Amino acid sequence: MTLSVENNQQKPLTLLIAEDNPVDTRLLESMLKNMAHIVKDLDTAGTVSEALQFIGQKSYDAIILDLNLPDSAGIDTVTQISRIAPELPIVVNTGANEEEMGLKAVAAGAEDFLVKGMYTAYILSKTIYYAIERKRIEAELKSAYTALQEAQEHLIEAEKMKVVGGLATGIAHEVKNPLSTILYGVTYLSDHVKSDNKNFDTVVNNIREATQRADNIIMDLLDFAALKEVETKLVNINDLIDKSLSLISFQFEKKLIKIKKEYTKNLPNISVDSNRIDQVILNVLLNAEHAIDKNGAIVIKTFASTMAEAKNTCGTFDGRNTDNSQAVVIIQIQDDGCGIEADKLKHIFEPFFTTKRAKGGVGLGLSVVKNIMDRHDAFISAKNNDTTGATISLIFKASEDQ
Ligand SMILES: Nc1ncnc2c1ncn2[C@@H]1O[C@H](COP(=O)(O)OP(=O)(O)OP(=O)(O)O)[C@@H](O)[C@H]1O
Ligand SMILES: [Mg+2]
Repeated sequence: MTLSVENNQQKPLTLLIAEDNPVDTRLLESMLKNMAHIVKDLDTAGTVSEALQFIGQKSYDAIILDLNLPDSAGIDTVTQISRIAPELPIVVNTGANEEEMGLKAVAAGAEDFLVKGMYTAYILSKTIYYAIERKRIEAELKSAYTALQEAQEHLIEAEKMKVVGGLATGIAHEVKNPLSTILYGVTYLSDHVKSDNKNFDTVVNNIREATQRADNIIMDLLDFAALKEVETKLVNINDLIDKSLSLISFQFEKKLIKIKKEYTKNLPNISVDSNRIDQVILNVLLNAEHAIDKNGAIVIKTFASTMAEAKNTCGTFDGRNTDNSQAVVIIQIQDDGCGIEADKLKHIFEPFFTTKRAKGGVGLGLSVVKNIMDRHDAFISAKNNDTTGATISLIFKASEDQ
């Protein structure tokens, strides 16, 4: 971000004076009113609470603030104003011999200070403009700093994923072959060896199941790391969800979970690799199912929106740099299950993060999902519902070819 220093000196200002001494007020008013090309609008408050009322009703470019008002004294006067209006530039108007107080006011958040009786109309206007400019630059610096911090967090996150991904694939490749040998061996034993021991079949089956599970994890890991390109074609998102649902609806019926579809008809098509997005939807649906004990409901919504709306309503996701006017199609999968603890929300897309280890969770589902969404230049976000449960949003850019 570049910092631009605009020439504010051209723009007529809307100003607020907070001053209880009538002589000082009149002096300030007459100086400012004489600068008709500078001051567009001028209001005067005699107390801090009156000043706060003005601020609540109107937008000011700056306030000229006496520190000692009937309802507030000293630095507290600055703090009261800046707490309610943190963006408002404050020029403190201190009494003679109160320069030290003026400096303290600047340390407490005022932009500058004037000493009564010591300034001319020229210095007054210059101080106000400088204060406005300083506040603007401060705001730009703050937002540049926040953007930098976010970018840094993302870089660290991306680097972490790369390291974990690399490590995981290395291990996966090494473990894959021995696992195949075990699986082959177990199948051979059960086909060719007959035993009188009644536990024999159970033991062999246990080994087969455990090995199969390990093999599935390895395949997921390889999937996670190997996914480079996707083969996309235009699809209707509602049809795609129905296809995924048909694969697991029996699981919902078993747990008495109701599925409510709230699809928007005639949505713009999206350009995706259907098999991969199928995998995404299945994973998210399965997580929703796991979060529900029994007798719950999952609502699946589809709708068209914009990136700006998605940023406002779907919780945090890393689409910050995408143009706000970008048209998107959103799938929301909302459950009434246990929800996600606030401190865990930002970890759920990390490989091996799971709160279901005891129940067989591996923690790869959402990292594979995130990876697939990244490859589609699409986004995923999670947030807790106001009442109970969580909502996962899948945000796809609407395709330009329809
Ligand atoms: N709908 C949801 N409600 C509550 N928690 C959720 C939901 N979706 C995801 N989570 C949380 O995110 C964690 C990570 O999900 P992820 O799918 O990556 O792994 P998992 O489901 O634990 O294991 P698996 O690898 O089998 O998918 C879960 O363990 C759970 O704590
Ligand atoms: Mg999962």
